[in-house]
Amino acid sequence: MFENSKFITYGSNVTRVPMFRKIFTAKEGSEATLKLVTLGTHDVYLNGEKVGDSILAPGWQDFTSRICAPEYKLSGLKAENELCILLTPGWFAGKINSKFRETPVPTALAAEILLDGKVIVSDESWQVKNSKLECSDIWDGVIYDANFESEWEQVQLYDGFMTNSVPDTTVPIREQQTVYPVELIITPNGEKVLDFGVNLVGYPVLDLCAKKGEKVSFSFGEILTNDGNFYNANYRIALCRYEYTCCDGHQTFTPNGTYYGWRYLRINEFPEGLDPMSGCIKAKFIHADMKRTGNIRTGNELVNRLFDNIIRGQLGNYIAVPTDCPQRDERLGWTGDAQVFIKAAAHNYDVSGFMKNWLTDCMAMQERVGAIPYFVPFFYMFSPKEFKPNNYPRAAWSDCITIIPWELYMTYGDRSVLEDCFEAMKKHVDGMTAVTTTQYLYTGKDQYGDWLGLDSPEGSYKGSSNEDIISSAYYAYSSMLTIKTGKVLGKDVSKYEELYNKIRAKYIETYEGVLKTQTELAVTLHFGLTDNAADITKRLVDKIHAAGDKLETGFVGTPYILHALSDNGECELAYDLLMRTEFPSWLYPVTMGATTIWEHWDGLRPDGKLWDTNMNSYNHYAYGAVADWIYSVAGGIKPDKAGYEHAVIAPKPDKRLGTLDVTFESIKGRFESSWYFEGDAAHYRIVTPVPATVIIGTRSIEVEAGAYVF
Ligand code: BGC
Repeated sequence: MFENSKFITYGSNVTRVPMFRKIFTAKEGSEATLKLVTLGTHDVYLNGEKVGDSILAPGWQDFTSRICAPEYKLSGLKAENELCILLTPGWFAGKINSKFRETPVPTALAAEILLDGKVIVSDESWQVKNSKLECSDIWDGVIYDANFESEWEQVQLYDGFMTNSVPDTTVPIREQQTVYPVELIITPNGEKVLDFGVNLVGYPVLDLCAKKGEKVSFSFGEILTNDGNFYNANYRIALCRYEYTCCDGHQTFTPNGTYYGWRYLRINEFPEGLDPMSGCIKAKFIHADMKRTGNIRTGNELVNRLFDNIIRGQLGNYIAVPTDCPQRDERLGWTGDAQVFIKAAAHNYDVSGFMKNWLTDCMAMQERVGAIPYFVPFFYMFSPKEFKPNNYPRAAWSDCITIIPWELYMTYGDRSVLEDCFEAMKKHVDGMTAVTTTQYLYTGKDQYGDWLGLDSPEGSYKGSSNEDIISSAYYAYSSMLTIKTGKVLGKDVSKYEELYNKIRAKYIETYEGVLKTQTELAVTLHFGLTDNAADITKRLVDKIHAAGDKLETGFVGTPYILHALSDNGECELAYDLLMRTEFPSWLYPVTMGATTIWEHWDGLRPDGKLWDTNMNSYNHYAYGAVADWIYSVAGGIKPDKAGYEHAVIAPKPDKRLGTLDVTFESIKGRFESSWYFEGDAAHYRIVTPVPATVIIGTRSIEVEAGAYVF
């Protein structure tokens, strides 16, 4: 691709976001194809109209190894056409990839227009100018002047950083929903704040009449303080600007090259006499375009809202890569977060394409730095300071490379993801074997431990679980998934089988007697690293009771604790934890008005205090992993053959939830699992598109595809 095209950029006159253009002639009404590779994010316009409806293309890849080149249909061509490309810094040249750099990283593009068997390529005949966008940045937002005009000039040839352009494998990001403000609040500090009702991700768009020079300026926040004032100190150094200078008359504005995470919009400046609630400000919720596949409704309104929050959190964080959060100066593809949430994610939406695209970058980075980094792509690519990704496996984070492909395979039945990742899985396990300080365990490396565990020692973000125990448990689990993968692919995995058996034996011998925390016990049970499940379960139950029947788990223990309980005869206690409303619990934030999942169990404390600004996101999907337990245990739908060729449906009802309706659109068709109570008796309705083993209480029945009532 692009063999004959030149990479073009701009000269020193262009100090704002550049707009490129090419004028070309065509047969009236004909169609052309544009192939475009940009170092930076782009929007394409043909004769003044935006082409296609994707935004922030081409997303975020590991640019050192590849960059996706999308194709656009240019239809309805005229005799003379103006093709314009607005090139925003995006993930390539923005602050997210060049923090601490004083001079901006230049952006560039190469293009091919295929028209009537001929190719028009990017070269010196293209033009460029300063656009109305003074600046645009993923973290820092936009400044735009609707009156700004400038002259076209000739482009320059680019000779900077170059990478491989590859066919586009990204899932396009689109505007997916319009959200209107629900209330205009005047805060105790006298500020005007629009409440959008939910914590959303995207941008406000304007549609208004104004006078030339009038200004619109907003600030974004996710939560109000206890006394009702605007707050966004938790965005840290992400400036999230939205500054717009009006022209005369009617105008519309959509920001390019950025997005924001917010519920509350502070109006800093606004045209005289305009009512912000009159429809002139609305929000576009953006996310990667994925098909919805799962739904959960229960008889409990708080659990329903928890589920809605999980969905909203997934959408707002599945943008270009699976991010930790969408608002502060991170928005990074944290590998641990993506891993713990994958089962819930793959029930809620078809995430196969989105995840496969990202795994490509995980593997490219592993190849280059020696291990899957804690976030992918690694940012600060152009930072003069030394920020280096980890070159050894980070327990629970780097394990995304075994866990995610395996989950994708089980959900979608697509072997190719295993084929693509098998070598990387082995490399990951071998990496632990190579650097550990204790043979057959994974010890001696700095890890994130049970990140944000509630049992953390004062002043630490890491829960008190032993890092070597967690790391060794993942060492075993990743080895096991590598073996399973190898077997599907017909490979010889005897080396890993031997390794796994030794890790498991050593783990039991070393740790079984000393497991203390909820997370250590839950992980041990869930990964099958014991021959005394009954004893470990009892210790876990005692531990939970001793804590006052509440969670003490962080990122690692939380996705597994309910499974560990319900798999071992303690389903009632699992429901106790799920249904708990006091802090800490999944429902506590819901009772505090949350509309997304919080990073901290106590992001907003019962006394109204907020977590310190340093690490306090109100849109962090990780703990939303609990949706997986509702789908696969409470609703009971699990594949026992890859791609739901055959399923086990074993619902576990609990009267406190009242009713449950779970639906899941698998690649084989739609599953439904519902139950309700009449007195103490549970009634079940099950729909399966494939032969299944249905387990109701102690009864197990083999059924064909169909609908059943029990
Ligand atoms: C991120 C996380 C991440 C963690 C790991 C945080 O800054 O927001 O979600 O997994 O760091 O240390």
